[in-house]
Amino acid sequence: MQTKEVIGLDQQYYMKTFARFPIVLSHGAGMKVWDLEGREYLDFLAGIAVNVLGHNHPKLVEAISIQAAKLLHISNLFYSEPQARLAEKLVSLFGGGARVFMANSGAEANEGAIKLARKYAREQGSGKFEIITTWHSFHGRTLATLTATGQPKYQDGYGPLPGGFKYATYNELAAVEGLITEQTCAIMVEPIQGESGVHVGTPAYLRGLRELCDKHGMLLIFDEIQTGIGRTGKMFAFEQYGIKPDIMTLAKGLGGGVPTGAFLAREHVAAAFKPGDHGTTFGGNPLACAAALATLEAIEQEGLLENARHTGAYFKEKLQELQQKHNCITEVRGTGLILGLQLNRPGRPLVEAALQQGAIINCAGNGDVLRFVPPLIVRKQDVDALVGLLDKVLK
Ligand SMILES: Cc1ncc(COP(=O)(O)O)c(C=O)c1O
Repeated sequence: MQTKEVIGLDQQYYMKTFARFPIVLSHGAGMKVWDLEGREYLDFLAGIAVNVLGHNHPKLVEAISIQAAKLLHISNLFYSEPQARLAEKLVSLFGGGARVFMANSGAEANEGAIKLARKYAREQGSGKFEIITTWHSFHGRTLATLTATGQPKYQDGYGPLPGGFKYATYNELAAVEGLITEQTCAIMVEPIQGESGVHVGTPAYLRGLRELCDKHGMLLIFDEIQTGIGRTGKMFAFEQYGIKPDIMTLAKGLGGGVPTGAFLAREHVAAAFKPGDHGTTFGGNPLACAAALATLEAIEQEGLLENARHTGAYFKEKLQELQQKHNCITEVRGTGLILGLQLNRPGRPLVEAALQQGAIINCAGNGDVLRFVPPLIVRKQDVDALVGLLDKVLK
């Protein structure tokens, strides 16, 4: 099909929910993708922090192909080896003492975490139900997760919203403390706010949240959907802070591009779910679990956590050099391979100009932050190519 035909069909039949670029992507390899016209793009977006192994990674393609030829889907009424092995792997990466539930997406993982926090409170006999989240957070698009999301623009038009959510200013412990009541069962937070423009949680804040939860008998939920699976240079961002959440949610990079999500909870919290309390038809199916296992294995075998730290630090340095040259960059934020450039003007024209020049990047926040979440396989030469291109488009 031609580009025009594909876009024509989409415009006629797809719901108008996305502001898409007029490009039809057709295939990829490593850090690159190509469109139907044969134009090549350096991919620093990775399907929004998803393709951690880049495109068409041979080990991931092989694992998916082998599993597809064996068994795709069985429901959760039966056991499967990929699911059992993935559960063991995730719990061991978490540091043990936990259980996992597999979902299909980030929103579904967060929805499950919210349900578990409330169920745990009920089982404890407290009946607490309120969850404190943060302004400018992003937790998903289902009714409960968009209510948890502290951004009214995503909530407008969908009322009545579920009750029991309160919002505190990010990185301000006192703001959270002021919202705690006898009804508060959990605090839910991203270690780095990604969607709203790469705002990094400070160690004092995140450790302080842990202490507040311990003091008031509340659960700490880390939404690691964007920060997990190596993005910060550790498998999970919480490892950077020397604390552990009671519940952690994952999605995005977990399946290396195959839709999958998960939430883990410490053993005594997970015990609040009894048979029949939560479920899913597709979550944790053999194909998704085989993809996740292959993704985690490749991250370990290919030293991609180390690469995220080293190449990420190099990338940040290069962005800081760019800031010295261009007045419109007011701040460089982030760590590992989740980095953001704060601009004093809209970023969309720059994203479009970068596309013209052959690079995929993205705007976050109020449209004035350039966000970079490339595959974890990114190398210094890719960073040099992108930074050179940014230098041109910023001029
Ligand atoms: C931190 C965070 N939580 C949840 C979500 C929602 O994930 P999904 O789009 O897979 O439902 C996202 C997506 O951007 C996210 O960044």
